[in-house]
Order: sequence, then C-alpha cells, then structure tokens
Amino acid sequence: MAVNVVAIDGPAASGKSSAARLLAEALPGSVYVNTGSMYRAVAWKARRLGLDPKNPDPEKLASLLESTSMRFVPTPEGRELEVDGLLPGDELRTEEISAGASAVATIPAVREKLVQWQREMAEGNRIVMEGRDIGTVVFPDAKYKFFLTASPEERARRRLIQDGGNPSEEEIARVAAEIAARDKADSSRAVAPLRRAEDAVLIDNTGMTLAETVELLCEKIRRKVVLPYRVPYADTDQMGVVYYANYFEYFERFRNELLRACGYPYRVLEQEGIAMPVIEAVCRYKASARYDDELDITGFFAEASGVKVKIVCRIYRAGQLLVEGHTVHACVDMKTGRPTRPPRFVRDLLEPEN
Ligand code: CDP
Ligand code: CDP
Repeated sequence: MAVNVVAIDGPAASGKSSAARLLAEALPGSVYVNTGSMYRAVAWKARRLGLDPKNPDPEKLASLLESTSMRFVPTPEGRELEVDGLLPGDELRTEEISAGASAVATIPAVREKLVQWQREMAEGNRIVMEGRDIGTVVFPDAKYKFFLTASPEERARRRLIQDGGNPSEEEIARVAAEIAARDKADSSRAVAPLRRAEDAVLIDNTGMTLAETVELLCEKIRRKVVLPYRVPYADTDQMGVVYYANYFEYFERFRNELLRACGYPYRVLEQEGIAMPVIEAVCRYKASARYDDELDITGFFAEASGVKVKIVCRIYRAGQLLVEGHTVHACVDMKTGRPTRPPRFVRDLLEPEN
C-alpha cells in the first residue's frame, strides 16, 4: 500500500487542484502534483514543434516524449511545471492547449510515459496528486483516495467565476451542458476513463466552500484506519480461497484496530462497563482472496441509532474490492445487562456510507 500518496480524481472544476494544493500545505512534508498540467505540457510542446495538438500523431508524440523532461519546481507563485528547463505558466491554460491536452490524453503511449513519471515523483516523497486516473491507474494502492464532484451547474458557475465573470443563469446553463457532455466523454473514453476507484471516498462538494472541502479531506485522512493482513494457509479452504466465514474474523480484527485508533480499545470499553455484542453480520463476496495475498481491511462507523452501532467493513487487494459487509452491535451496560446508548465518541465519528 502506498501510504505516502493521497490520490484525488474527479471531473473538471470539481475543485481538485485548489483542494489538492491546500491539502498538501496542510499535510506536513507533502508536495502537490497536478497531472493535468503534464498532459497540457505535452500539447504545449507539440504545438511549439509545429504539430497540431488537437489531432496528434501518436508516433510523433511518443518520440517527442523521449526527449522531454518534466519536473515541478518551486516558484514565487507556488510549484510550477518546468518543461525542458522552461516555465510555460499560463500558456498551459489557453483554450487551444486545453483541447490539445484532452486529445493527447487519449494516446496510450503518452499516458504510459506520464504515468511512469508520476509514479517516480512519489519515490521518497509524500505527495498529493490530482487528475483523472490517479486512484485507478497511477496509484491503485494509494492509502488515501478521493473522488471529488459537484453538480454541473455548480461547476459551470465556478469556472465562469474563476475566469473573471459574473455569469448569467443562461451562461451557467450553457456551460453546465458543455461540462456534462465532457464528463460523459471523459467517463466513456476507452483509455483511462474517468471513474471513481472502488475504494475512493466520494465527496460531492456542491454547496461547500473550498475551505470546507479541504477540512473534510483532512478529517477523512485523520480518521482512516487500514489494517494490512497477509493471508496464511490456515485461512484457506479446499478450493484454495479464504473460507467465507473467516471474513467475519477479519471484520473483528478491523473493529479492534478502529476502536484502538479512536483511543477506546475494546478492552477499555469493557473495563468501563460497556459491551458491544454483534446482533447482525452481513458479508457480500465479490472476488476471492488466496494464500499469501496482501489484504487491506478498512471501514468506518456508519450509523448509531438508539442503542445500535453499525460498522461497515471493506476488504481490498491492491485497490480491488473483494468483500464488503457490516456488523450491527447493541451497546449493553455490563452491570445491569440492559441496553445503553453508544459511547459519545462513536456518535462523533459517524461517516455516511458511499
Ligand atoms: O482542478 P479542478 O478543475 O477540479 O477545479 P479547480 O480549478 O480547483 O476549481 C475551480 C474553481 O472552483 C476554483 O476557483 C476554486 O476556488 C473553486 N471552488 C469552489 O469555489 N468551491 C469548492 N468547494 C471547490 C472549488
Ligand atoms: O482543469 P481541468 O479539470 O479542465 O483539466 P486538467 O486537470 O488540467 O486536465 C487537462 C486534460 O488532461 C483533461 O482534459 C483531462 O481529460 C486530461 N487528464 C487526464 O486524462 N488524466 C489525468 N490524470 C489528468 C488530466
């Protein structure tokens, strides 16, 4: 698992770059990487060499990349992409280069090279990387994955305001329709389509300020508990896969760590007179785990109502969801044997399921 990577994906104007930049500032020692600017830089360089970035020739682009260097360097305006020793800056954001970036981004040889560079950027660094395929292709094993989105109208409003306008409702509706069409094209393209990784946290920030979005990301990062687990032979059955009932034990291992990370190991809860027996357990099997697989077991407190607490658990292998389920617990006062309200800290930590 890449514990040093925060991956942020999402459609245009969902706030990825603004949120990723601020998040990197909030996480000590982290650097921010905007991968969209790398695709833009390919289009920019192609144009400088007299090629048409909107109708790129895959072979010419592949050889162009052989003699290209890209790195992010600190500048007074923040970290910027340096291409072959030059700083293209705002030249990357023209309409022609935006369209060119979308076109070059569909060429597998281009993606392969940029993905390789993006992976190298994480070596020895803590990074917050944003784009379209970071959680799905570049770092499928990133510990922290987010998918930001907002309604097309909200995103249209943001883009128009960002471009210095005071947009009318007609303008917003027109740009929202364009954005919705681009979302569809990005999500249905054959090469690295835009999609939420199964283990990415979905954040719809419609109606949220940028500061609220960043605060929410920080909170999700602080709360994330992932238990690594290597499958031993003892857990597998005659078919060579993890025996179905063992996943309930994995759920328990995770719950134990979740409570510990919250500062309330189950042992302490019991010492304080609270037991949390399981009254419901559900498990859905999507793919099998085998001997020696390295699993990531994660989850969260999903509900607390009356005396019940629901804990969702999900089990992944290299970013692929294998199993998901939940347990429901009744909180019981051990002295009287009567049901009691869940501890306060649980109610403070609830996260909606997505
Ligand atoms: O990188 P991406 O295209 O996803 O979006 P962005 O350039 O970071 O954000 C587009 C604009 O929306 C910026 O001006 C942000 O400040 C603004 N924004 C916002 O107003 N509220 C948010 N929750 C997120 C972004
Ligand atoms: O700012 P905006 O969201 O409009 O675009 P960007 O993030 O600067 O990305 C420019 C183009 O590169 C977009 O059309 C994306 O489809 C493409 N891209 C991609 O295919 N994969 C990435 N990881 C990042 C960007």
